[in-house]
Amino acid sequence: MSEPYYSDEHVTLWHGDCLDVLANLPTASVDAVITDPPYNVSSRNGRDGTMPSSLRRKDGTHRKLQRDFGDWDREWNPAPFLAHTARLLRPGGSLIAFTSEFTLPAYLDSGLNHRNVIYWRKTNPTPAFRKLYVRAVEMAVFQVNGTTGWTWNGGGYIPNVYEGPTVTGFTVANGQSRYHPTQKPLWLMSALTAQHTIDGEVVLDPFAGSGTTLVAAKQAGRKAIGVELDERYCEAAARRLSQGVLDFGEDAS
Ligand SMILES: C[S@@+](CC[C@H](N)C(=O)[O-])C[C@H]1O[C@@H](n2cnc3c(N)ncnc32)[C@H](O)[C@@H]1O
Repeated sequence: MSEPYYSDEHVTLWHGDCLDVLANLPTASVDAVITDPPYNVSSRNGRDGTMPSSLRRKDGTHRKLQRDFGDWDREWNPAPFLAHTARLLRPGGSLIAFTSEFTLPAYLDSGLNHRNVIYWRKTNPTPAFRKLYVRAVEMAVFQVNGTTGWTWNGGGYIPNVYEGPTVTGFTVANGQSRYHPTQKPLWLMSALTAQHTIDGEVVLDPFAGSGTTLVAAKQAGRKAIGVELDERYCEAAARRLSQGVLDFGEDAS
């Protein structure tokens, strides 16, 4: 492999297609894959009818509805990434992957041991402006490589619902403080890291975006490997990671 885009004592971030990078990582070298891949919810016509506040005019009317996060979020097939995940997870290693109803079937077919679905209930969801429910919940799958030995911190009565705010505000590209259009909140990725890994374990995020999982892992004393296709988001992740324990990307949440 060529040089990483960013590296420090805890984190290595690669710029490129994760399928190429994962093919070069050693078998059973990862304790947990904690990731937020594409969900295929983008549509030039706004598939779920939600209205970003950035489209609202001052007079209360709206610009044309559009919910399009980028080409990476259309017609994406999880299967090749899941095949790599099965090889890279140690026996008992966990996969936590955010998904939608559009990509869930591929996860249920992953060949890993499906344990649970985890929900994140947003306390500040984006309003819907059509005859539709507001998308106030996102889900992630919790799957394990094998039937024993996964890391589980904290007893037998942990509900599968995390509650809290999403990251709001405009993107850094617009001169504001959010780094990625689909950025996950740091509090959420930190909670999942704390639940599913222990000190010194290796966390992999093949769809790192602005690096929220990597920041959470670093702050918790884990080792982390990230991959991101879009160099703008590698740059944002590198900036966040080099800020140390302070993460200003949460200012907007
Ligand atoms: C849902 S976003 C992740 C956002 C991230 N959780 C955050 O908080 O910033 C998914 C990311 O995966 C990246 N991506 C899509 N396909 C990829 C691939 N084949 N390899 C690496 N990254 C990819 C996209 O560029 C996008 O930034």
